[in-house]
Amino acid sequence: MSHVILIASGKGGTGKTFFAANLGACLAMSGKKVVLVDMDMGLRNLDLYLGLENRVVYNVMDVISGVCKIKQALVRDRRFSELYLMAASPIRDLRDITPLHMQVLCEKLGEEFDYVIIDAPAGIGEGVEVAAASADTAVIITESDTASVRDADCMDQLLREIGVSKRFCVLNKVNAELMAMGAVPGILMVAKELRVEIAGIIQYDTNILIANNRGIPIVVKQDSYISENITKIAERILV
Ligand SMILES: Nc1ncnc2c1ncn2[C@@H]1O[C@H](COP(=O)(O)OP(=O)(O)OP(=O)(O)O)[C@@H](O)[C@H]1O
Ligand SMILES: [Mg+2]
Repeated sequence: MSHVILIASGKGGTGKTFFAANLGACLAMSGKKVVLVDMDMGLRNLDLYLGLENRVVYNVMDVISGVCKIKQALVRDRRFSELYLMAASPIRDLRDITPLHMQVLCEKLGEEFDYVIIDAPAGIGEGVEVAAASADTAVIITESDTASVRDADCMDQLLREIGVSKRFCVLNKVNAELMAMGAVPGILMVAKELRVEIAGIIQYDTNILIANNRGIPIVVKQDSYISENITKIAERILV
């Protein structure tokens, strides 16, 4: 059975697209067939983080509005045996997309792929409700600052109401030094604020920033602590 995993956040810029790209790459390296769907209409980035921006012709909106077939909108990442991207539309307009469209799209993708990973737009607007329509699992990416954590909890409640049964949180861009100084909330304090289970912690690392900018999922460097960490997070999410 295929899984539909939503990557969401309350606050913007927490690392959703980075995590989506790397979770996809990690699963593809373990032999799974994976499609990454960018649902951040108007603010698409997933193509950049995968270095596929020059190969995108059609996008999700084209598929849903019948301009092209699903296959035509899938860009294969040739570095992996079975990793594909369906890019978001460069235009923000969500007018033509309903949760039902998303359900049909995910059902069709589910016939071909083991995992459908959806990069959601930030915030609790209509965009995330559409993106979440078929998700069985959600990963909420948050930073450890008070505002980001509170917004992650709001997102968790929204996703619970929508009916996403398995929900996890990943704490990203963690700065251990600031935590130790008490300048930002520590892990225990964050865990107390969140009703959702924390599936993992990713530290702030300039290598991640550089890899994203170069269009390289950092997990391809298999012996690194980052790839080990993301692999473990994937295992916890996909139980
Ligand atoms: N662990 C990390 N360490 C360092 N930089 C990171 C880390 N995670 C993400 N970044 C950087 O933080 C910025 C935001 O990341 P990203 O684009 O993945 O966030 P997002 O949640 O998808 O943003 P948006 O809400 O705009 O879609 C990017 O510059 C990215 O390279
Ligand atoms: Mg993003």
